Amino acid sequence: MEKQDEKVTLEKIVSLAKRRGFVYPSSEIYGGFAGVYDFGPMGVELENNIKAHWWKWMVQKRRDIVGLDSGIFMSPKIWEASGHTKGFSDPMAECKECNTRIRVDKALEEVGVTADEKMPEEEINKIWDENKDKIKCAKCGKQDFGDVRKFNLLVQSNLGDFTEKGESPAYLRGETCQGIYVNFKNVVDSTHVKLPFGIAQVGKAFRNEISPRQFLFRGREFEQMEMQYFLESEVEMDEFEKLKEYRWKATLDLGLKEENLRWKKHDNLVFYAKDAWDIEYNYPWGFDEMEGVHARGNYDLTQHSEGCGKDQDYYDQENNKRFIPHIIESSVGVGRTVLAVLTDAYTEEEVNGEVRVVLKLDKKIAPVKIAILPLSKKEELSKPALELFENLNEHFICQYDDTQSIGKRYRRQDEIGTPYCITYDFDSLEDEAVTVRDRDTMEQERIKIPELLSYLQEKFRM
Ligand code: GAP
Repeated sequence: MEKQDEKVTLEKIVSLAKRRGFVYPSSEIYGGFAGVYDFGPMGVELENNIKAHWWKWMVQKRRDIVGLDSGIFMSPKIWEASGHTKGFSDPMAECKECNTRIRVDKALEEVGVTADEKMPEEEINKIWDENKDKIKCAKCGKQDFGDVRKFNLLVQSNLGDFTEKGESPAYLRGETCQGIYVNFKNVVDSTHVKLPFGIAQVGKAFRNEISPRQFLFRGREFEQMEMQYFLESEVEMDEFEKLKEYRWKATLDLGLKEENLRWKKHDNLVFYAKDAWDIEYNYPWGFDEMEGVHARGNYDLTQHSEGCGKDQDYYDQENNKRFIPHIIESSVGVGRTVLAVLTDAYTEEEVNGEVRVVLKLDKKIAPVKIAILPLSKKEELSKPALELFENLNEHFICQYDDTQSIGKRYRRQDEIGTPYCITYDFDSLEDEAVTVRDRDTMEQERIKIPELLSYLQEKFRM
């Protein structure tokens, strides 16, 4: 058995994702809808496992972090106070020939020129003027772009606006953490939390990305897992280091290979930030941001205090003082994590002269844990095999598959990353045992049926 070492391409991941029911392009039968993806039967299990894993690390294992599920829609005043209605934008330029719009900082990056989406319009226009002749339009091939202008990423809706003029739009949230900031006081008043403490939330976010690209990496609709940790300024940087360390451990616990992960410090900080780092994953095109860990000072709650006219402060009873807490945050996209684990797990091996594609996913996040495969559709095998399925699916997500040859069924399960396949054969009727096949080693073991559950529970013990 020989492992093929070359790096997996994005095309292979996209193709497997579609072929095996992980991710489908949105609205495909109508020609597609850019920047949105649908998660199929395997994808929804994988997503759920990733979200449950995050929740376990960020809420269940922590005495000092609680959960929240705020609405996607919120008062538009929130987005004014947070600065999103004015400052949440990316630099965009339009091809004069075919009107294709491109994201300028990313286009410059591709030709080796550094520009940051946070730069003021004049600064980025200067860099653009010096370099735009190096950039070709991906659609028409011309090198003739107009000036850079900042394009606001907030997605607008008419929720609650019956004027039909779009005069008072409600926004779909551009990040989940604003729902956390505006509920800070509610959580303090309704639970026993004391500073320092965190609030965690998982949910959809929406951004009018100029050029959604690289599959799940940059979408217009995506899901975030965010934790905001409220604290006193004196401990901000110590806690920031602890949070970085904790998130690194949690990320490794997803089963990602350490050599495919690295830290990157932000070169340009927004004026209020104290420090900002990204966890980067080695995606098919190279290292890129998977998660951000940021020390945000007291900017967020100060903005909301000013925005709503009520101090979003904390009363420290012990020391009899009031202050606006500082915040450190960890923010990671579900889609970017899905893409990272698929990339990391995708393996091609040569077996008996044929290529075996196998997803070597960590068992905890594998969409299907066990497949039950009767050797024949005959009732004498299907009846006891179905009984086995019904017993095991009380404990694990299982699949029952009796179609096609056993070899084809193994390949299907390998491609979705099922750690164990159980074959019920004619001998099982005699010896009350089944064959358990290991996904990674392909080794097979004969296990007595009465011992099967405890054998499998041991295999999945975490
Ligand atoms: N609250 C901070 C915040 O939202 P961000 O760097 O804009 O910061 C945090 O986003 C994370 O959300 C990113 O590290 C990434 O994992 C994910 N993310 C951001 N934009 C995304 C997009 N358009 N598509 C998919 N994931 C995205």
